[in-house]
Amino acid sequence: MPQTLKIASRASLLARYFPEIWSESHLRSQAKVIKTHKTLDDMPGPNALSFFTDLFCKKGLSRLHELQIEGKAKYGPVWKASFGPILTVHVADPSLIEQVLRQEGKHPIRSDLSSWKDYRVCRGHAYGLLTAEGEEWQQIRSILGKHMLKPKEVECYAGTLNHVVTDLIHRLQHQQSLHQQHVVKNVANEFYKFGLEGISSVLFDSRIGCLEPKVPKETETFISSINTMFVMTLLTMAMPKILHRIFPKPWQKFCESWDYMFEFAKGHIDKRMAEVAERVARGEKVEGKYLTYYLAQEKLSMKSIYGNVTELLLAGVDTISSTLSWSLYELSHHPEVQKALHKEITGVMKDNPIPTAADVAQMPLLKAVVKEALRLYPVIPGNARVISDRDIQVGEYLIPKKTLITLCHYATSRDEKYFSNPNAFQPQRWLHKDGDRHPYASIPFGFGKRSCVGRRIAELELYLALARILMHFEVKPEQGGHAVRPMTRTLLVPEKEINLQFLNR
Ligand code: HEM
Repeated sequence: MPQTLKIASRASLLARYFPEIWSESHLRSQAKVIKTHKTLDDMPGPNALSFFTDLFCKKGLSRLHELQIEGKAKYGPVWKASFGPILTVHVADPSLIEQVLRQEGKHPIRSDLSSWKDYRVCRGHAYGLLTAEGEEWQQIRSILGKHMLKPKEVECYAGTLNHVVTDLIHRLQHQQSLHQQHVVKNVANEFYKFGLEGISSVLFDSRIGCLEPKVPKETETFISSINTMFVMTLLTMAMPKILHRIFPKPWQKFCESWDYMFEFAKGHIDKRMAEVAERVARGEKVEGKYLTYYLAQEKLSMKSIYGNVTELLLAGVDTISSTLSWSLYELSHHPEVQKALHKEITGVMKDNPIPTAADVAQMPLLKAVVKEALRLYPVIPGNARVISDRDIQVGEYLIPKKTLITLCHYATSRDEKYFSNPNAFQPQRWLHKDGDRHPYASIPFGFGKRSCVGRRIAELELYLALARILMHFEVKPEQGGHAVRPMTRTLLVPEKEINLQFLNR
């Protein structure tokens, strides 16, 4: 007998013997509660074989974000599916996502990210903030949060970041000058380098040459290692472990990519630490304004610093590159918005050539453009939570503890119930209050204790870069260019090259 019926028949028996307690209205309200306790067995969803075919035979891994919209249309806001060996419950409604996040507990778990953790255990590396759990996560989070989330602390990075933006502008000038129509090919590629240089400057307060005319080989290899690692993440997680022995390539490539990233981070940390040690030995006073220095001051073990810096470097590259690429792609296709934004920027800047944190704070349309780009192209299209210690109720379902719950942000942020004309780029929508908008419908940085620790730095970096790019260039689509759609590569990235014309102002 299904659990709901069992409870209902027990309730009616009790009503016969205790009529005053089990009155009809009480029973009715109980029935409501009872009805809400549907189980995983009652949940709709594709059968394992059809989902497997979707994923592997119809390029489903790169279309995972679209499968969210298809899943919601077919099954409603909650459905289950097996992602390889993992059963996951999809939640694609803002109020249900809110319910999950409000029950996430003291030490939220994003997901098992099993292959990331397996790699660290296998190589004896420490977890960083992205992968740590429990008390260990809490300790690192409070240290990093102190230096990365307080507005005053973050503003201190504006000067360093502005130097990187200056180099980005020079590089864009150089790249567009090489082309007759001033086209910069594959802008995401340029912005990967900008992202890596930006996060390195915050972490080490030194430059690593990503934006030089001749990009160091190790930088290119680091960026391509991130790409390979993200592609292999989905593949290694979707493959049952037994298949890793039969098809060893994905796991091998995955490990090689991580090996390179750890080595790269360690090389830069050791170099920076050695410089500091030399200065201390010379009796000089050393006071750094960079993140690795703060981590060392907190007496974190070297192993933990290596783990954290590797993960921060990784987190600061694709996220920034994608958001900048999509923002400029959309602005190039919406010249009226670009014109209004340029007017806003020049209005604040007057004759000043370099915006500060205080300047960009006075540019509401600039912030709205980034918000809208992240609504249409959330870098993390599907986030997740695992509630490990208790079953939780979500909508009418009781979800057993330890279930992987996928939060379908891509589907909610393109849902016309919450955003009129949902597929259109309309940053102005963020400039006024809208009663239909649900606060959890578009949450590109996540929510709550485990939300993005780099959010403030990322926003500052994006605002400083976008403002300055538009001060220097009018950005247009490449003539005869094609429309570019997003694809999932763990993160949401452009499916094809975005080529844009950068015309000097
Ligand atoms: C547009 C830029 C970015 C977006 C959209 C973004 C988005 C996100 C999201 C959705 C999460 C998961 C939040 C959750 O589970 O609730 C996250 C976590 C995280 N992000 Fe970002 N991120 C961005 C940039 C950055 C940057 C630049 C850094 C590094 C400086 C960074 C570092 C991290 C870290 C370390 C975590 C893990 C936090 C934890 O587990 O406590 N992110 N980010």
